[in-house]
Amino acid sequence: MAKRYSRKPIADEAAYQKKLQVTQEYFQPDMMVMEFGCGTGGTALIHAPFVSHILAIDGSKKMLEIAKSKAEAEGIQNVTFELATIDDFEAPEQSIDAVLGLSILHLLKNKEAVITKVFKQLKPGGIFVTSTICAGEMSKFASIVAFFGRPFGLILKIFTASELKASITNAGFEIDYEWRPGKDKAVFVVAKKPQQ
Ligand SMILES: C[S@@+](CC[C@H](N)C(=O)[O-])C[C@H]1O[C@@H](n2cnc3c(N)ncnc32)[C@H](O)[C@@H]1O
Repeated sequence: MAKRYSRKPIADEAAYQKKLQVTQEYFQPDMMVMEFGCGTGGTALIHAPFVSHILAIDGSKKMLEIAKSKAEAEGIQNVTFELATIDDFEAPEQSIDAVLGLSILHLLKNKEAVITKVFKQLKPGGIFVTSTICAGEMSKFASIVAFFGRPFGLILKIFTASELKASITNAGFEIDYEWRPGKDKAVFVVAKKPQQ
């Protein structure tokens, strides 16, 4: 699966490029970034030149093997790939500047617990960037989308964009940027942890 995932073209290249660009507008060269569910590492490697360091974790060893070989081939040294689930991942409170969770929240058993964990680990003013399938509004597509979750042994969780945003704000975040390229597309959010 990991090899197949790595070769799969990005479904909506224009939307992906816009999300990269918006994310990079929040980055500073001294930032410590954590990405969970990094997959084969493509996004972390693209963002690497814009920050100090990225710790990219994934629960799949095979995904990380591909990610590490890409980093080596591209000579990128400020991304560390580690085998860990977000559930097991530990970091000191208020130690991270930015967290990325892309195409992952809809696969988690308890996204609220993960969002709360991310909130605690972020520094005040830190950002949480997510791109999430909100199948609640796109029921006719839900079965198709669910298919993509299955290869990872995970089941797509069904919720709406409003429910996702409520989970984010209930954890204490303020939504700073929000974009959905279309009704059936993932919801992209940049949420900020308030300074105080
Ligand atoms: C749909 S892929 C998304 C990969 C990448 N973020 C992207 O946008 O292309 C989901 C990834 O999350 C990983 N994953 C699933 N559950 C996880 C968890 N609880 N903690 C960390 N990684 C997880 C899977 O191994 C897979 O690589």
